[in-house]
Amino acid sequence: MILWDKKHILIGITGGIAAYKVTELISLLKKAGATCEVIMTEGAKEFITPLTIQTLTEHKVHIDQFSLPITMDVEHIELAKRADALVICPATANTIAKLNHGLADNLLSTVALAYEGPKLVVPAMNTAMWKNAATIKNVNGIKELGYTVMNPDSGLLACGDIGEGKMPQPADVFEAIEDLLTEKDLVGKTVVVTAGPTMEPLDPVRYLTNHSSGKMGYSIAKEAKQRGAKVVLIKGYTPNIPPNVDKLVEIKTTGELLEAVDEHFEDCDVLIMPAAPLDYRPSTVSDKKIKKGDNDTLSMVFVPNPDVAKTMGAKKTHQIMVGFAAETNDVLENAQGKLVKKNLDFIVANDLTREGAGFKESTNIITIISADGEQTKFPIMSKEQVAQEIINKIIQLIGKARS
Ligand SMILES: Cc1cc2nc3c(=O)[nH]c(=O)nc-3n(C[C@H](O)[C@H](O)[C@H](O)COP(=O)(O)O)c2cc1C
Repeated sequence: MILWDKKHILIGITGGIAAYKVTELISLLKKAGATCEVIMTEGAKEFITPLTIQTLTEHKVHIDQFSLPITMDVEHIELAKRADALVICPATANTIAKLNHGLADNLLSTVALAYEGPKLVVPAMNTAMWKNAATIKNVNGIKELGYTVMNPDSGLLACGDIGEGKMPQPADVFEAIEDLLTEKDLVGKTVVVTAGPTMEPLDPVRYLTNHSSGKMGYSIAKEAKQRGAKVVLIKGYTPNIPPNVDKLVEIKTTGELLEAVDEHFEDCDVLIMPAAPLDYRPSTVSDKKIKKGDNDTLSMVFVPNPDVAKTMGAKKTHQIMVGFAAETNDVLENAQGKLVKKNLDFIVANDLTREGAGFKESTNIITIISADGEQTKFPIMSKEQVAQEIINKIIQLIGKARS
């Protein structure tokens, strides 16, 4: 996760029909807390007004490289120095060609030459232009020069053609910028994350489950992926959409969860277990729908499910294992007990009774307890921030293991 309020994003808008879509990207970046400055090409001005962009960004729009400067700074150098990333969106075939050949005939191409930080290009054009051998050569060329290039989407284009060339959704561009700015400190590591609830069938139509939303596991999987890890996400049923990972495994019961974790355990470096598995299951599952009987009550016998974390903890060799303790009472004592019993490297404890720390919340209030007993308490944070703190702690442990 990025600390957006410290980020300065320089956006280059070029003369394509998708230029209007950049307004949504700017709004996403600003909502996240980033500062946006914009350079427009002369062509871009034909598609969207500088006034719109200036109003949205609350910053002067830069267009002409020979305009008289307000200060004695050289504008293209100063713009390049301020930026944490340069994002050219949408990028025309023309501008991509210029970037590939190192031309510097307008402010945007000059800044791109002077800029040494991470650069993202978001192409958008008619399918024939995108498939043209010259464009293919130029796109490959700028990749070799160090630009990250997003693949355009397919669909109905402004010209009426259907095919590849559409600008990706602003939310996807936002994610690509987030990815570009994230430090890749988990490269070469395989991280297995569990998420969501398990469910246990009672009969062919009914099941028992819990309120776990899977959001915590999803945030961790996303953070680990952004930081360069190969991520296996093992998820129970939740209506929330999982992030993009290297392998997604869907499970239902706690038994299936254990099987899936076991299958991936040997080859993983880190196992993080925020899933909420059911501790018990019915001793028998009726093969027919249980009918409403004459009695007012219905009794069932439950048997314990395997303890996934404890089973893996007993098998642990080189893996870093992280557990979670969502408790309603004696939170830290219970969490400490679990940490030892399950042979974890650290445990993330949270008190479900506190406001902002529940299953369905988008926030959490955690204490991280390490194997050596050290406790670190955190203030209320978004689940994304919690994910970042968990990955930071893992990086620390990997560092310690190396030294
Ligand atoms: C209506 C219209 C729509 C255009 N849309 C695109 C487009 O989506 N992608 C593209 O690469 N070029 C498009 N062009 C062509 C560019 O505007 C042209 O190549 C221009 O020179 C680009 O300049 P720039 O890269 O400096 O902004 C379009 C032109 C017109 C007239």
